[in-house]
Amino acid sequence: MSSLHNPSMAASQKLYLALFHVLLLSLFPLKAKSSARAQAEALLQWKSTLSFSPPPLSSWSRSNLNNLCEWTAVSCSSTSRTVSQINLRSLNITGTLAHFNFTPFTDLTRFDIQSNNVNGAIPSAIGSLSKLTHLDLSVNLFEGSIPVEISQLTELQYLSLYSNNLNGIIPFQLANLPKVRHLDLGANYLENPDWSKFSMPSLEYLSFFLNELTAEFPHFITNCRNLTFLDLSLNKFTGQIPELVYTNLGKLEALNLYNNLFQGPLSSNISKLSNLKNISLQNNLLSGQIPESIGSISGLQIFELFSNSFQGNIPSSIGQLKHLEKLDLRMNALNSTIPPELGLCTNLTYLALADNQLSGELPLSLSNLSKIADMGLSENSLSGEISPTLISNWTELISLQVQNNLFSGNIPPEIGKLTMLQYLFLYNNSFSGSIPRR
Ligand SMILES: *[C@@H]1O[C@H](CO)[C@@H](O)[C@H](O)[C@H]1NC(C)=O
Ligand SMILES: *[C@@H]1O[C@H](CO)[C@@H](O)[C@H](O)[C@H]1NC(C)=O
Ligand SMILES: *[C@@H]1O[C@H](CO)[C@@H](O)[C@H](O)[C@H]1NC(C)=O
Ligand SMILES: *[C@@H]1O[C@H](CO)[C@@H](O)[C@H](O)[C@H]1NC(C)=O
Ligand SMILES: *[C@@H]1O[C@H](CO)[C@@H](O)[C@H](O)[C@H]1NC(C)=O
Ligand SMILES: *[C@@H]1O[C@H](CO)[C@@H](O)[C@H](O)[C@H]1NC(C)=O
Ligand SMILES: *[C@@H]1O[C@H](CO)[C@@H](O)[C@H](O)[C@H]1NC(C)=O
Ligand SMILES: *[C@@H]1O[C@H](CO)[C@@H](O)[C@H](O)[C@H]1NC(C)=O
Ligand SMILES: *[C@@H]1O[C@H](CO)[C@@H](O)[C@H](O)[C@H]1NC(C)=O
Repeated sequence: MSSLHNPSMAASQKLYLALFHVLLLSLFPLKAKSSARAQAEALLQWKSTLSFSPPPLSSWSRSNLNNLCEWTAVSCSSTSRTVSQINLRSLNITGTLAHFNFTPFTDLTRFDIQSNNVNGAIPSAIGSLSKLTHLDLSVNLFEGSIPVEISQLTELQYLSLYSNNLNGIIPFQLANLPKVRHLDLGANYLENPDWSKFSMPSLEYLSFFLNELTAEFPHFITNCRNLTFLDLSLNKFTGQIPELVYTNLGKLEALNLYNNLFQGPLSSNISKLSNLKNISLQNNLLSGQIPESIGSISGLQIFELFSNSFQGNIPSSIGQLKHLEKLDLRMNALNSTIPPELGLCTNLTYLALADNQLSGELPLSLSNLSKIADMGLSENSLSGEISPTLISNWTELISLQVQNNLFSGNIPPEIGKLTMLQYLFLYNNSFSGSIPRR
């Protein structure tokens, strides 16, 4: 006979189960209560160390100790009733994290103190927040180096330390973070790690913008096939842009490599980055031709190559870029004519071709650029007349700079009707006639 069929045994088992239940029910809330209490105490203790504690944190008070989940900037998990999120953005908090006791926050998934005045070091104890998925310490005054303990936060998906005063070498152990999609270390004073130890294939957003990085293009980036945003600008990166950037990073929407020491050509394989909206490569040492294939990146809105050594022609395929708003090819060695197809880029508001070796006349098709606000053509060898047809359709024009060219003929009187115009530079050409009046 099995115990289930013995009525007295079954009854005593039921009693046991019931007792066990009561025990469980009373233990759990107790534990939650005590850890919630410890968390409230930790927040109060930290608040007392701040040199400016913002008025919205008045709910953080000893008299309100039992209502932790109703405190401003705090969210609780509905099951455990302990703190799951701390969101303290833009509260003008002034102080440090040195006395923040992270230990009780075992359920914390989000810690966001973006845009405050928090200074001092990022405490290594932050590495104990084992459930953290979102850590945003950006736009503060943190100094010192990035604590290696951040690499213990293996659940992390979002890490921003953007715009602080962090220095030292980026810990290569960050590459141990298997789930990070968003990594922003921009606007600090960080130095090169051993890049060969990096591998973060889950990245979708990566910025090392404005640091003190001096290496060749870090190879690991070419394996981040889910990247949509890449910014290495304002560092001292050297060497060529690897071919694997073009062949592997097909999801990229922004490629920002400006103000570095990159050299060599722009590969015709750039057309494989068919989702690009912004390309900003200005202020490098790039050379060769602008690839004709650029015209197939149909969503391109911003294309900036100024201050490099590109030569040859402006590809006529640029006319296929219907979304193009800003084209900046200044300060290169382009020596073609201006392709008439440019007049098809009717969304252009900013066209900068100054300081090249362009020749020939302004194509009449440019009259279709009816949104153009800034037209910079100075320091070239452009010639012929500036047609009244062009000017009369450029009603949004704020700046027209054609100085230091070989233009001739009358200055079109229509210029006087451009009500937005603020900057007009015509000097050192062969214009005749009188200056138009408003
Ligand atoms: C911000 O904090 C500083 C102290 O660091 C304080 O002097 C200032 O009044 C605060 N500003 C606002 C708008 O609360
Ligand atoms: C890349 O994104 C896809 C689609 O979201 C996802 O399935 C894949 O796991 C991601 N790859 C990595 C390495 O995270
Ligand atoms: C492209 O640049 C514009 C202007 O700087 C910006 O507003 C936009 O967010 C950028 N797009 C991407 C995908 O980075
Ligand atoms: C473009 O990529 C292909 C492979 O996808 C490669 O065979 C070719 O050499 C690349 N082009 C250049 C200019 O490197
Ligand atoms: C433009 O420059 C390239 C390379 O320097 C040269 O081969 C070509 O002949 C030049 N074209 C014109 C029209 O001057
Ligand atoms: C042109 O630019 C405007 C404003 O930036 C935008 O709303 C519109 O979608 C653009 N049109 C095209 C074809 O890109
Ligand atoms: C302006 O664009 C229209 C429509 O695409 C076209 O028919 C016309 O020829 C263009 N104007 C000039 C001067 O090219
Ligand atoms: C002036 O621009 C409009 C678009 O706003 C276009 O339809 C028209 O054809 C242009 N005029 C000339 C002469 O190109
Ligand atoms: C005037 O423009 C021509 C043609 O661009 C240029 O070669 C010359 O240096 C300019 N003169 C002065 C004084 O800037």
